[in-house]
Amino acid sequence: MIKKLFVIIGLALAVPVVPCLGIDQFPNGFHNGGIGPCEGCHSKAQKAPETGSSPAAPGDSPSPDAGRGMFNGQDSGSTCLICHTAPKGQKVPSGYFVATSNDDLAGGLPPGQMTPGGDFAWLRKSYRWPTQDSGTVKDGQSPGDRHGHNIIAAQFGYNYDFSNVTAPNGDYPSDRLTCTSCHDPHGSYRRLADGSFSTSGAIPIIASGSLKSSPMPDANHALGSYRLLAGKGYSPAIAGSSVVFNADPPAAVAPDKYNRAESKHGDTRVAYGSDMSEWCRNCHQPHSHPTGNKAQISAAMAKEYNSYIASGDMNGSRTTSYSSLVPFEVGSKDYTELKRLAGNGGEYGDLNGPSAGENIMCLTCHRAHAGGWDAITRWNTKSELIVYDGKFPGSDSGAPSYIAQGRTSAETRKAYYDRPADSFAVYQRGLCSKCHAKD
Ligand code: HEC
Ligand code: HEC
Ligand code: HEC
Ligand code: HEC
Ligand code: HEC
Ligand code: HEC
Repeated sequence: MIKKLFVIIGLALAVPVVPCLGIDQFPNGFHNGGIGPCEGCHSKAQKAPETGSSPAAPGDSPSPDAGRGMFNGQDSGSTCLICHTAPKGQKVPSGYFVATSNDDLAGGLPPGQMTPGGDFAWLRKSYRWPTQDSGTVKDGQSPGDRHGHNIIAAQFGYNYDFSNVTAPNGDYPSDRLTCTSCHDPHGSYRRLADGSFSTSGAIPIIASGSLKSSPMPDANHALGSYRLLAGKGYSPAIAGSSVVFNADPPAAVAPDKYNRAESKHGDTRVAYGSDMSEWCRNCHQPHSHPTGNKAQISAAMAKEYNSYIASGDMNGSRTTSYSSLVPFEVGSKDYTELKRLAGNGGEYGDLNGPSAGENIMCLTCHRAHAGGWDAITRWNTKSELIVYDGKFPGSDSGAPSYIAQGRTSAETRKAYYDRPADSFAVYQRGLCSKCHAKD
């Protein structure tokens, strides 16, 4: 099947794909919700690998170049990052870049890309600080490994997690984790008109299914799954087929411009619909907090979310209460509604908070890729205060070291996607209180 596609798409490919320097290189998209031009990922020097042959797994390669004949990059993850790393000097968020280049972290600068999933360069940021515990000075720490999914991409210096041997509460091997563990590189999962997913080529993918501007599927046209995420039956090749997904991709819609700094009332809203927690469970069993399609927000809790503006300020209203630091699922697969909700604060879209029956999910508290805090949480859950004396805590802001936690205030601010400190209270507590304000 793939071979047939190779022939068809190969013919259509008059223009060679050059590893990119900027987003203008792909005015017409690259994956477009499905399988992109082969030579964007597979090197021309050698033909694409035969179906059934075992693909290069970086963990297996005796030499780091062993996979080179097959991929444009040193391994599959590096191949993705050739296009998905911001080019050197690109410090402001832009397009589909999900990692800041190493050069731009020099001198202690924070990662600069602000997609909903987050910037993988946070994995390179390790912090230590002196902390006082019952009179004893100890070393507080927040190692880079804790800040995200440690993807293997040797060419870009990303290595697997050394402390988690498998996915916590799961079996997926950490030394086989990369982009294609979650995303299908060939984008075969497609959303049909009835909202179900298929990998059959009978109904072709016509576009990305992730965006507010995406078309709607119909009887003869399918869309790519949300963010090319893999679904039922997917067996990440890099894991040697030891893992098989049993949940389909989630229902969600991102705004067209999703990689941006967030101003005071300008949160980037991905309209999460349903099935995200169920999808994460392909690799993790959930921990203690209720989460998923059935973890519904009660009327009383919705009221708390909607009233909550900041610690001590419960004067908010539903129409402006959405926070991208505490997103939720609306409990729907109605894409007309999801497309209406997705947006950027004041620009368009909708910042409505939840109503009763909508639900909490893994991404309420976590990011999917990486971020500034341990356990990839959206805010620092290891500190009582996330804003101290009106400023983002940092070694340079006058905050005590156990609150600054080894960061600079600029790093802390970036980890909150550049929103101003005055979007919070002068002494702001953690955001569990968006739903549990009374605690
Ligand atoms: C976005 C990057 C990307 C594009 C575009 C791409 N491939 Fe692949 N391909 C991969 C990766 C990565 C693997 C390794 C297996 C894996 O990780 O799933 C792979 C593996 C393969 C394999 C081995 C069997 C398999 O499915 O695992 C074949 C055959 C193949 N690709 C053919 C193609 C053809 C033909 C095209 C163009 C029509 C294409 N690929 C486009 C990334 C890509
Ligand atoms: C040759 C450049 C290139 C390579 C290589 C590449 N991408 Fe992309 N990717 C793009 C561009 C351009 C976009 C935005 C337009 C689009 O989706 O077609 C994008 C978008 C995406 C999206 C969002 C798609 C959507 O529909 O929402 C995902 C997810 C993604 N890429 C994952 C990957 C993964 C995983 C790999 C490696 C297996 C990879 N990309 C390799 C250029 C590339
Ligand atoms: C653990 C699973 C996982 C891994 C590993 C992973 N992704 Fe993602 N990715 C996701 C999910 C889930 C989303 C949707 C996030 C959201 O909307 O909140 C996403 C979103 C994206 C997007 C859209 C922009 C964004 O951040 O929302 C791109 C592009 C992308 N991924 C590329 C990559 C590349 C390239 C890699 C490897 C370097 C990678 N992903 C590794 C799960 C993963
Ligand atoms: C209400 C917020 C919340 C929700 C919802 C949530 N988590 Fe967590 N999760 C946390 C916090 C906070 C931690 C950090 C706990 C710690 O380190 O003490 C954490 C830790 C983790 C860890 C690391 C555990 C370890 O032992 O290292 C994993 C993995 C994880 N969560 C996965 C998930 C998945 C998957 C889901 C959805 C099925 C989910 N979480 C839902 C808040 C949440
Ligand atoms: C393909 C398998 C896979 C999927 C799908 C997956 N994860 Fe993971 N996750 C892992 C592995 C492996 C680790 C351990 C390695 C690491 O931490 O980098 C991990 C680690 C984590 C951690 C702990 C990070 C740390 O170091 O403290 C959290 C939190 C987490 N995942 C949340 C999620 C959430 C939320 C989703 C859904 C959006 C998700 N995962 C989907 C494989 C997966
Ligand atoms: C988006 C809303 C939301 C956020 C944010 C949230 N929770 Fe919850 N929490 C819920 C819901 C819904 C329940 C289910 C029970 C209920 O309705 O009280 C719950 C229940 C709980 C429970 C009772 C456990 C149980 O098994 O019933 C604890 C403890 C808890 N949350 C702690 C936390 C902590 C700690 C955080 C921050 C890391 C947090 N919550 C963030 C919505 C939220």
